[in-house]
Amino acid sequence: MTSTGTDSPATPLLVSSAAKLRAATAELLERARDRRGSSDVPPSLGLVPTMGGLHEGHASLASTARRANDVVVVSIFVNPLQFGDQADLDRYPRTLDDDLRLLAACGVDVVFAPGVEEMYPGGEPLVRVSAGRMGEVLEGASRPGHFDGMLTVVAKLLNLGLPGTTADYRAYFGEKDAQQLALIRRMVLDLDVPVSIQGVPIVRDADGLALSSRNRFLEHDERSAALVLSRVLRGLHDRASRGEPLDLNSARADIAAEDLVDLDYLEVVDPSSFAVPGDDGERAGQRLAVVAARVGAVRLIDNTLLPNAG
Ligand code: PAF
Repeated sequence: MTSTGTDSPATPLLVSSAAKLRAATAELLERARDRRGSSDVPPSLGLVPTMGGLHEGHASLASTARRANDVVVVSIFVNPLQFGDQADLDRYPRTLDDDLRLLAACGVDVVFAPGVEEMYPGGEPLVRVSAGRMGEVLEGASRPGHFDGMLTVVAKLLNLGLPGTTADYRAYFGEKDAQQLALIRRMVLDLDVPVSIQGVPIVRDADGLALSSRNRFLEHDERSAALVLSRVLRGLHDRASRGEPLDLNSARADIAAEDLVDLDYLEVVDPSSFAVPGDDGERAGQRLAVVAARVGAVRLIDNTLLPNAG
């Protein structure tokens, strides 16, 4: 970290190559080990993968990682593999200076912001992680190939951040991207990736809108219309807590009644498998209500875990 000599928080060390990332984290972990002296507890590294365009939701990821780890690394990489549409990729917010300020305030040690050539030196990867069946439903059905591209870059980032066997390793992801989080947990389980995946709760604006890097593209009236998504989820949550039937069709009709909102899906799923409870002979356990809609040109997603009444 760079000391500014003032009261402003220290700017994280910015690196753009995997070699510099490894050198920086090895040095910081070594210092943490020295501070621990003869303690048997190994130092820990927390990695927060992001695509930049950071907001308070990311600040919550970084601060959660800060509280739990000796060394915190945030990666910022707009991953072309997970965008189906070039226009969407081009429009994705790139706000590195603001991002660094936000991460400094969270006490992040290192920011890894590689270019495309550093991440994919052989060009577009031929070999990718496949999200399988779970990547074909809901978000996967609307955004073909998205989850394969996302898992491929997350696998690479987890490998690049790997602190070796002498440190604990955790990676932090937001619960707003619930299907992404479930797939990452599944990849780590299925492929024996030596990292502990930590989900961090959704951060909302005071009026209920889940924070997203894409919210900045909403016009004023679109933003007001978008509130129907969190309102409907809250309604389902309240009904579930009272043990009432959920009536998804009427909830869908409430969303469809908003002129500026084009509903993609509203479903209740198992939060680990993303199967509809009851499918495959599964007994209903935990239930997650998930919603996606296009509001103007902006695609938004949100979710809430439904309580089991009684
Ligand atoms: O959630 C995101 O910002 C991205 O999907 C991730 C996990 C950083 C992979 O590019």
